[in-house]
Amino acid sequence: MRTPILAPPTETLIQPKPFLKWVGGKRQLMDELGKNRPKQFRKYHEICLGGGAHYFDLRNNGYQGKAFLYDLNGELIRTYQAIKDNPAAVVKELWGHALSHTQGYFLGLRSINPKDLNDAQVAGRMLYLNQACFNGLYRVNSKGQLNSPWGKRSSISVNSTNIYAVSNALRNAVLVQGDFAEVLSRASGNSFSFIDPPYPSGFSAYTSIGFPDSDQARLHRVCVELNRKNVMFMQTNSDCELIRKLYKDFNIAPVQARRNINCKGEGRGKVGEVLITNY
Ligand SMILES: C[S@@+](CC[C@H](N)C(=O)[O-])C[C@H]1O[C@@H](n2cnc3c(N)ncnc32)[C@H](O)[C@@H]1O
Repeated sequence: MRTPILAPPTETLIQPKPFLKWVGGKRQLMDELGKNRPKQFRKYHEICLGGGAHYFDLRNNGYQGKAFLYDLNGELIRTYQAIKDNPAAVVKELWGHALSHTQGYFLGLRSINPKDLNDAQVAGRMLYLNQACFNGLYRVNSKGQLNSPWGKRSSISVNSTNIYAVSNALRNAVLVQGDFAEVLSRASGNSFSFIDPPYPSGFSAYTSIGFPDSDQARLHRVCVELNRKNVMFMQTNSDCELIRKLYKDFNIAPVQARRNINCKGEGRGKVGEVLITNY
């Protein structure tokens, strides 16, 4: 086990990258997303943040403006907030877990209610469990309790340099725990919104309430409203009849990504996805 580094790194910050493995993460689509996003906009809104791959890519490509980052998952948003506010405390928490790592320790920490923890503790727990659980699968049951199984890893790594880089990348970001419809009260003309919701018939156990087809219809109404407010949006979704019908009045372009095709990571393959834009 390497020696814990608790002081901020003194070398130039590296480019931030997602600090969690997140089902549905968009790293494989980043070239397509980069080519298709608008070149100029005033403010950025990402309304199903997850691991934040697109936000970090945007920052690494020079975007320095204001960002509003939303997700319904409260533990996730508290984790981002803690990394933004106090990366040293998060690194310290994570080292504590890494040095105690065993199956029993994993199960004990998993059973703790995050409501009893402060933000840095929530973040350290989230980063640890994300690595220690099976295949990085963050999954909750109907009561909202994490139920990802033990992943049998022999050790846990602490990428403190990336945690500090992420903290720096969040300086101009407002983190919002809430439903995607929250964007309507904050976004105005000449803003850009990237939207990566759970897909129909896909994995949706990011929160206890999942993402039924009625949420796809609700999200469509939010997009219609964003369009009316002159907000540019780019959405990724699955290439299926439901989505093609809902968004028939917008631009729909097929894209292909090689990714895990089920939440157990058992299969890999090319899955049909679409990029929906209003510009
Ligand atoms: C496919 S993941 C996003 C992945 C992300 N783009 C990435 O690169 O890691 C979908 C996200 O939507 C969030 N979500 C689910 N229901 C939501 C809702 N009603 N409002 C906002 N976010 C929601 C989930 O918590 C999850 O993080």
